[in-house]
Amino acid sequence: MSDNRIRKILVLGGGTTGWMSAAYLAKALGSSAEVTVLEAPSVPRIGVGEATIPNLQKVFFDFLGLSEEEWMPECNASFKLGIRYINWRTPGSGEALGREHQGGKDHFDHVFGVLPSHENLPLSHYWTHKKLTGQTDEPFDQACYTQPQIFDRNLSPRYLDGTRWASYAWHFDAQKVADFLGRFSVEKLGVQHIQDKFVGADVDQRGHIVAVKTEEGRRLEADLFIDCSGFRSLLMNGVMKEPFLDMSDHLLNDRAVATQIPHDDENNGVEPFTSAIAMSAGWTWKIPMLGRFGTGYVYSSRFTSQDEATQEFCRMWGIDPETHPLNHVKFRVGRNRRAWVKNCIGLGLANQFVEPLESTGIYFVYAALYQLVKHFPDKSFDPVLVNRFNHEVEEMFDDTRDFIQGHFSFAPRNDTPYWRACKELELAPRFVEKVKEYKSGLGVNLPVTDEAGYYGNFEAEFRNFWSNANYYCILAGLGELPDNPMPLLAHQPESIASAEAVFEEIKKRREELLATLPSTHEYLLKLHGKA
Ligand code: FDA
Repeated sequence: MSDNRIRKILVLGGGTTGWMSAAYLAKALGSSAEVTVLEAPSVPRIGVGEATIPNLQKVFFDFLGLSEEEWMPECNASFKLGIRYINWRTPGSGEALGREHQGGKDHFDHVFGVLPSHENLPLSHYWTHKKLTGQTDEPFDQACYTQPQIFDRNLSPRYLDGTRWASYAWHFDAQKVADFLGRFSVEKLGVQHIQDKFVGADVDQRGHIVAVKTEEGRRLEADLFIDCSGFRSLLMNGVMKEPFLDMSDHLLNDRAVATQIPHDDENNGVEPFTSAIAMSAGWTWKIPMLGRFGTGYVYSSRFTSQDEATQEFCRMWGIDPETHPLNHVKFRVGRNRRAWVKNCIGLGLANQFVEPLESTGIYFVYAALYQLVKHFPDKSFDPVLVNRFNHEVEEMFDDTRDFIQGHFSFAPRNDTPYWRACKELELAPRFVEKVKEYKSGLGVNLPVTDEAGYYGNFEAEFRNFWSNANYYCILAGLGELPDNPMPLLAHQPESIASAEAVFEEIKKRREELLATLPSTHEYLLKLHGKA
């Protein structure tokens, strides 16, 4: 039998996506395939993309054999226990702290981790029963998780001896991640790095790319081409002419104004969470790292101008738009009709972008790489592999788009044309069905396994990505409660009574954690060798 294996892979682009792809594929294929990255130093990376989700370590860094202790200090990385949604329920322009709301502050938390369960039902259902029968006023996140008070006190997800007590993700400097992975790929995995600009491609009569051509006259042949050229999508939209499906009818935001702001960690601590602060025509991320935080106002150009957005953003942080360096980013929301066409695959911004509210951009890259390796072709490019991969990527993207749209759609604020317009957009029928299940007191996408199984087995997580806990955190957080408790619970008073012990256990555990955890700042200083 002749050797039909893919021998040469050309990755176009050296941003986060390009280097993640090169490292992952070089590791997966070993010495039997040669991986080359072509990157134009004259074309800057987008350079945002600093918040992640927990499976990054398991699915990506563990696969490469890199521990947190190895990569985190190289990338100024910090911890993220979840996302705090601020001012999504009260009217007003951008304010970094929660406004007064129903006797408390306007914020709620989207916490990582599977909900505790009791007698095979997630705790969300017992909380709903208590809430709807007037037995509790405690918000969902505070009743069902230990984390919200840990957020308030800026405590660490790890003890100083390294022991983890919760699922967490990371904040990092995206430029440093790309540089670190570049060095790792070249030095440890034998990836070739060519600095030159793509100017065109040779395509054969079947429509497959044979080679890419560069400004300095190179002609780089390969069997498989990975387009990581960012929003330009030079191979997928350019050479392969694959259409981009615009999804601005689901999500309105299409611009961001971003910057870095120095932070006094010594006096204020380092927050172990991302903040998502609602603004007049969008929201602002706040991503803390040692000594600074990254922040950006993601807005809709249909509802505010660049100048107005910049003013609101700078006023909130007390910075001067005339002197403080600001990065203005335009983006498109949607995905290529297909991620894989013939012998070319688009990844990262070259294939899709959903706005960064749930920090899924980098996840989409390694989830697609995982699927690519699973569906890896030979030179015959079996259409079954191609179609199956495309289906997985499409589902992953559309499901996330719908979940994010739900955040805007169910946010109770209605004070600006932007927030009113968010409610007028049509929701995908599939998402509407899930909301109906939630409203009827059913669990939505109940995880098929416990927390260890969920985060330990990417197949389980990928198929059940936005699960019951996510729906509860967001919908109950926004104030959208189920219409009824689960009817079955009315027949199970003993179960309702014994669930109290689980709620009590959460409180007890929280007190223990509050009394014993180091601060995030202290942990990071130690990790980064600055203690
Ligand atoms: P990027 O544009 O960074 O890289 C493109 C590469 O192609 C560069 O190396 C460039 O030199 C190269 N190139 C271009 N033209 C070329 C040519 N002619 N020849 C050769 N090379 C060429 N994600 C996330 O997980 N968490 C987050 O918090 C956010 N936040 C966020 C905010 C905003 C406003 C945006 C727009 C995006 C995010 N993202 C994100 C997404 C994240 O930014 C994105 O997934 C990664 O940075 C990856 O970017 P790419 O590498 O795909 O493109």
